[in-house]
Amino acid sequence: MQRQPGFTLWLTGFSGAGKTTIATALEQQLKARGLYIERLDGDTVREGLTRDLGFSKEDRDKNIERVSYVAKLLSRNGVGVIAAFISPYREARQKARQACTNFIEVHVNAPLEVCMARDVKGLYAKALAGEIPNFTGVSDPYEAPEAPEITLNTDRESVESCTARVLEYLETHVFIPLEQPV
Ligand code: ADX
Repeated sequence: MQRQPGFTLWLTGFSGAGKTTIATALEQQLKARGLYIERLDGDTVREGLTRDLGFSKEDRDKNIERVSYVAKLLSRNGVGVIAAFISPYREARQKARQACTNFIEVHVNAPLEVCMARDVKGLYAKALAGEIPNFTGVSDPYEAPEAPEITLNTDRESVESCTARVLEYLETHVFIPLEQPV
């Protein structure tokens, strides 16, 4: 018997939409509840498992395919996976959905103008200046989810509210136990 059902929270959205912030907050809160959680994030995974890949469609598909494989192994063995990747292509996300246990697509949805204005890493400025090719939202496509399980409007909603809504979804679907009142 597994101690907890595995699940895969798949966070997709533009660079700067807030995927890492929300993924990290969720990871902390779920671990604080004693659950087995693994967070996979483009920024770190691309330094290891997929370090050989760039940002062409072919390479992004390979990136998502490898990450999906890891998420599949973990989620089918009772781990809660939080995957945070731009993952701009619908088909690649669909394949991830088919591979992973209890797949929950979360659209981290901030308008492109907001992400550009935030420009946390200074990459939009470089992309707009033509210094980074194939940059999502500038010179590369983003196929927004058509029917995500959850949409988080990070330009209008606090991190606390976003994470609370995701936790509530997990509780409602019995992927995690209800929090015990203290
Ligand atoms: S994905 O498209 O393959 O899912 P992933 O989430 O792993 O992308 O990596 C995105 C991160 O790589 C961005 O947050 C940004 O820091 C960096 N990056 C570098 N070049 C690009 C680019 N051309 N397009 C998007 N992100 C880029």
